[in-house]
Amino acid sequence: KKVVLAYSGGLDTSAIIPWLKENYNNCEIIAFCADVGQGDEELEGLHEKAIASGASECHIVDLKDEFVADYIYPTIATGAIYEGTYLLGTSMARPIIAKAQVEVARKTGADAVCHGCTGKGNDQIRFEGCFAALAPELTVIAPWREWDMVSREDLLDYLAERDIATTASATKIYSRDANAWHISHEGGELEDPWNEPSKGVWTLTVDPIDAPNEPEYVTLGVDKGRIVSVNEKQLSPYNALVALNDIAAAHGVGRIDITENRLVGMKSRGCYETPGGTVMVAALQAIEELVLDKTSRTWRNQVGQQMAHLVYDGRWFTPLCKSLIAASEALVEDMSGDVVLKLYKGQVQAVQKRSPNSLYSEDFATFGADDVYDQKHAEGFIRLYSLASRIKALKSQ
Ligand code: ARG
Ligand code: SIN
Repeated sequence: KKVVLAYSGGLDTSAIIPWLKENYNNCEIIAFCADVGQGDEELEGLHEKAIASGASECHIVDLKDEFVADYIYPTIATGAIYEGTYLLGTSMARPIIAKAQVEVARKTGADAVCHGCTGKGNDQIRFEGCFAALAPELTVIAPWREWDMVSREDLLDYLAERDIATTASATKIYSRDANAWHISHEGGELEDPWNEPSKGVWTLTVDPIDAPNEPEYVTLGVDKGRIVSVNEKQLSPYNALVALNDIAAAHGVGRIDITENRLVGMKSRGCYETPGGTVMVAALQAIEELVLDKTSRTWRNQVGQQMAHLVYDGRWFTPLCKSLIAASEALVEDMSGDVVLKLYKGQVQAVQKRSPNSLYSEDFATFGADDVYDQKHAEGFIRLYSLASRIKALKSQ
């Protein structure tokens, strides 16, 4: 047997390597790590670590550009936001990681894939849903659902017994997941929603209290629902995100604290930081306001809702996903223009917006005299618009 393991270098996936060998017939293990912009710290020395833990190969695949251009941008173009605030940072990364993992399995002739997700979460469903859609022939191994280790101490003991070195410590308060779009924090005191997150939870953004006392303005160029420039500079999706992360993080923008519904049925509490993404989403909303008429906006809302659930629930590689993205692409066709956003103490506001496709017309909207709109026409309109109510009321008199 040959297994491709989604490997991060952390304690869990380090313990998985010897565990797989012992429990799956001394199988060969290919460590696979997706670079989705989690940062150099996590990737440093990863190759050596994987080999030292017993893997025979380690593949680190750079997916940063593809992640932002082909997964994040189409998703935010739909307007997807989960349960009011979650910008889906972890959820959106799973399909691209799973796809690349399958590619490594095919390339190396492996017959199984393995992940380090727990049996209580969403991620196991997302990974395995993607494996099912892309490579149903592969065996899936989920150690957390098989072994009886339950704590970090158990994992550390397991590695110590086998003389495998690790830099992990017994106490790690939070469970975190990072990529170019966001970082998530769960566990520790956050498990009680009555606890305000302590200062140490947040790692990406400045505490709004400590943010500059002067606002910063940033200009985003939008083309067909895609952010294409930052402060007048044309940037690739990934580079635009990196630039905006820096700017927004310094102002404490993009923190949320949510108690969300997991797909497995339980609620969980998480704190997420999405600095650049929060600014991008605000810019798209500003352009949408100018460009989409009432029924189109209502429809984009519905498409976004559906998409949020689809992404959260791990159904990326489905006809439904293609269909929602197709609907969204029609809606964002006219969503081009410029937005100036004001960042200040954790807040972002779109304060200037313009679009060549704007439907807003001062000529029509003015409270002053105009010669494009005859107020007398409103009377007949309202008469017919309220006809059903009038008939019902007359009947009951
Ligand atoms: N609850 C969020 C989600 O389901 C974040 C999950 C974080 N995942 C992790 N392996 N730490 O998308
Ligand atoms: C996990 O259980 O592996 C992380 C949390 C989640 O997937 O929801």
